[in-house]
Amino acid sequence: MRISANLNRLIEAAEPLWAGEAEVVRTYWDSPVRTGETDLLWLGRQCSKEFNGTGIGEFKNLGIFLGPLTELSEIFPNIDAGTDARVGRQYAAELIGMLKDEFSHYMAFADVHDAIREAGAPALDPHTLATWDEDVTLTAVRHRHNAEHGALGVRASRFTEGGYCTLFREGMRLTGRGGADDLIAAACAKVYDDEFGHMLDGIAGLDDEGWSDDEFRLMGELVIAQLRLRIHMRNAEFSFPLTETRIQAIFDGDIEPEQFDFERAEEALA
Ligand SMILES: [Fe+2]
Repeated sequence: MRISANLNRLIEAAEPLWAGEAEVVRTYWDSPVRTGETDLLWLGRQCSKEFNGTGIGEFKNLGIFLGPLTELSEIFPNIDAGTDARVGRQYAAELIGMLKDEFSHYMAFADVHDAIREAGAPALDPHTLATWDEDVTLTAVRHRHNAEHGALGVRASRFTEGGYCTLFREGMRLTGRGGADDLIAAACAKVYDDEFGHMLDGIAGLDDEGWSDDEFRLMGELVIAQLRLRIHMRNAEFSFPLTETRIQAIFDGDIEPEQFDFERAEEALA
């Protein structure tokens, strides 16, 4: 597919950091830090992101569930209305689709959590899930980028959303290992199928939005800052399978980049 030099540069800057996030998850599966307890911990944390995550420019920063839900209830009187405040039904349908998709991601991980917990251990309650420091930092930086740079900041946050689906792709690789690993693999495969085309589409779609050279440069800075914070966020989510030294080496470029799938992006755009 044909992409601009600007977009190509942005993708090339992101690829090693996507690979870094993948390495966190891949390392965790066979890491000595992994126990039944750390599995419940990361599943709960992932549920908190899928249930309450914020920072991608959703309605009033209310999170991926309450954001679209609140927006839908506010726009309801204006859907296809014959007034100046009219909101098209297509837009409402997109919000409903987002709500349904994200809730099904929450369910996929919550189901694994509840299936692998010890008998008598409490079921997952998304209202009691705690966030963790590294995720709070990532969210705060996204909110700041969105507030300071408006549409460009939101675009950077959307570009880094899901980190090229690395968690889901690395999770899928557990297929065939049995037990909890097979349940994790199936949940990840489900979410991956939902997200991957959508995500590629979002990245490749940048070229049609008329960003200038300077805007692309600034977006690149925001994207790199966010992707680095994503690696810290993921490493903490998974109980620190990578050392600080290894993360620093990744930031310094000592890693095989995760190749952007241009072929599938083209299919997603078609
Ligand atoms: Fe999701």
